[in-house]
Amino acid sequence: MDNDRVRAGVVDEFVLNRFRVVDTPAGAIGVVRTTDGFYAVLNRCPHMGAPVCVGTDLTTSTVASRPFEYRLAHEDRVVRCPWHRWEFRVDTGESIGNTTKARLLRFPVIVEGAEVFVQYRAARGAAARVKETPQ
Ligand code: FES
Repeated sequence: MDNDRVRAGVVDEFVLNRFRVVDTPAGAIGVVRTTDGFYAVLNRCPHMGAPVCVGTDLTTSTVASRPFEYRLAHEDRVVRCPWHRWEFRVDTGESIGNTTKARLLRFPVIVEGAEVFVQYRAARGAAARVKETPQ
């Protein structure tokens, strides 16, 4: 363990779109490998605190459409909470369908060679934050 990062594993150990949960001083963090890179989020749903990454695979959601029409969206980028089924984008932390202004707390992931690390001191998007600060 480094000062601000924790080893999450080796790249090839990660099953595509399936979270691996690692313990850090900032709490349990879920790290997931996708087709466009790694993401990491706090293993805590901003609604009521469910362990949102444990046993979770990224999934796809639907977006508003006409009656009897089902449009898929955010393919394999959706974290669906096991308790109340709220959905969040893994890449931004935002809720799908504007269910809440609260977001998943995200962390940077660093890949060095074959090793994967999560920076637990560099959280982005507070879990209970309701207003985003302009950048
Ligand atoms: S605790 Fe996650 S949706 Fe309620």
